[in-house]
Amino acid sequence: MAGVITYFILLLCTGIMGSGYCQNGPATTKTPPSCSYAVSTIKFGFKIDITSATTGNYDININEEAHPETKVIHSVVHSNQTSSHKIKHLKPCTEYKHAVAFNDGAGNRTFCSYTGNKTSELTTQMEMKDIEDGSCIPGYVCYRSDWNIGSSMSASNNVAAEPCRTNSTEFCIKPGINDICTNLITTFTFTKCMDSSFIKIKSIPVDYLNVSELKQDIPTELPVDKIRTTFPQNCRNLTIVYTCLDIDEFSKPIKPLTELEPFTNYSCMGQIKENDVTIKNTTAIKFNIDCDLTTTITTPSVTNTSVKLSWTTTSQKCKDVLTKSTKLSFLCSCVPHHSKHKHSKSSRGGCLIDELEPYTNYECGVEPRYKKKVFVKITSPVETLVGKPADISKPSVTLLGNNEIKVTCTLLGRFYGPGGYYIARLRYGDIVMTQKNTKECLFTFKDLSYSTTYILEVAAGNKKFEGNLKHEVVTTRYNDIAVIVVIICLIVLVVVAVVSMAYVLRRRRSQNDVNKDVMLELNPIYENVPRS
Ligand SMILES: *[C@@H]1O[C@H](CO)[C@@H](O)[C@H](O)[C@H]1NC(C)=O
Ligand SMILES: *[C@@H]1O[C@H](CO)[C@@H](O)[C@H](O)[C@H]1NC(C)=O
Ligand SMILES: *[C@@H]1O[C@H](CO)[C@@H](O)[C@H](O)[C@H]1NC(C)=O
Repeated sequence: MAGVITYFILLLCTGIMGSGYCQNGPATTKTPPSCSYAVSTIKFGFKIDITSATTGNYDININEEAHPETKVIHSVVHSNQTSSHKIKHLKPCTEYKHAVAFNDGAGNRTFCSYTGNKTSELTTQMEMKDIEDGSCIPGYVCYRSDWNIGSSMSASNNVAAEPCRTNSTEFCIKPGINDICTNLITTFTFTKCMDSSFIKIKSIPVDYLNVSELKQDIPTELPVDKIRTTFPQNCRNLTIVYTCLDIDEFSKPIKPLTELEPFTNYSCMGQIKENDVTIKNTTAIKFNIDCDLTTTITTPSVTNTSVKLSWTTTSQKCKDVLTKSTKLSFLCSCVPHHSKHKHSKSSRGGCLIDELEPYTNYECGVEPRYKKKVFVKITSPVETLVGKPADISKPSVTLLGNNEIKVTCTLLGRFYGPGGYYIARLRYGDIVMTQKNTKECLFTFKDLSYSTTYILEVAAGNKKFEGNLKHEVVTTRYNDIAVIVVIICLIVLVVVAVVSMAYVLRRRRSQNDVNKDVMLELNPIYENVPRS
């Protein structure tokens, strides 16, 4: 608020300058210095001559008549009776208001009287040679002048001029990428001057190219034939050659774009050439081309112990670069049970997984890999074909009677097929007795021949195969009942014979006389025997 008031008072003061001095602000100076000043035009501005007995700091206020807000206060030191001060960097052909005040350093100002009669002064005309080339900011187009040219500059690329930080006399324009290889035209416009505009033309060579502003398109597919780089549109004869490095293996040789591989971290840099002469290198771009892979398992071919998997692979983004690469490998496996993994190198071919169990459901699959990248496993359900049933244990044979046997066994595994059964054959010469049992390995053979050696064969079977036979030799015992019967018969016979003999003898003795004739009749027979 106080500032605004001061400002208006100052304006008032400059207005009534011709008639004497004016006190600034509420503070009053008891012994105001008697000072005066004169203004004369010089090139680029004014010369202010101060006449005063009081030495010290004086403020010279300058502002465009039409724009009071452009006021600039130049603080100068007055050390003599008279001193001269040059105020430059004003605008040409422009009316400026001026005022000079003694500044006591404590906030008190005492305005000096103006010796002239005009309240404002006009700056001189502008000339072309007043504008020189500058060099304040590298990569910019700069112009220097002792005139204030900043606000008069307009460039063909519509970029605003920036003041130079180290040198207030310079203003710079940043050429855009499309100003390269063409001319940047800067127009300086001073509407009040006789020559109201000046044109400066600067050709922008390719050296102005700021590589960090080059747009480089990161490749996402293979093979890479080029990295699209947006060059300044007006540059002809610019070419770029990219080479790439595997970030994870610096020892590997540098590769051209056409040899890039999938799933590899690359850093690529382009050499920008103009008519085959390298002029600049691009900033490095880093990427890793993440390829897709679609694997399709064709119908697996199956035996009773093996599965042959075949598949085809395609890649949308990386085509043959991935699918034909020798670095693409495949891991084949079947679960459950089968822990072995088979590698197959061929992307088109397949792999054979063997040592599987017959008649078993598996989930067989292939897992593609490329370097560290592991793709999703593609699986297919597979059932192995019917195989030979497992072996059975050594059959156990029990003699139940003298002509009956019981046979048992255990299956050491599975039937490996539908319709599992056990079979037992008992052979004797050409005679074969066969029994089948679908429930358990339990057989009874009855009514066998006594004391006979049979060959027993036992195996497990299924609809398609009969397993390995297990042989046993079985000998039946002799028929003991028959022997007892024979013995009893013999005993009976003997008893009968003895009893009969005893009876005969007893009858002979008791009927000795009666039978004498008979005996006598018999005798001749006895007597005749030795004779014959
Ligand atoms: C571009 O190259 C052609 C032939 O190579 C040459 O005639 C021409 O002068 C070149 N232009 C520039 C701007 O270097
Ligand atoms: C690529 O870089 C990433 C992160 O820096 C890393 O995890 C990955 O293993 C690298 N790839 C290869 C193939 O080395
Ligand atoms: C598989 O089948 C073949 C005949 O096709 C047969 O010779 C072979 O013994 C079977 N293998 C097994 C383990 O069952």
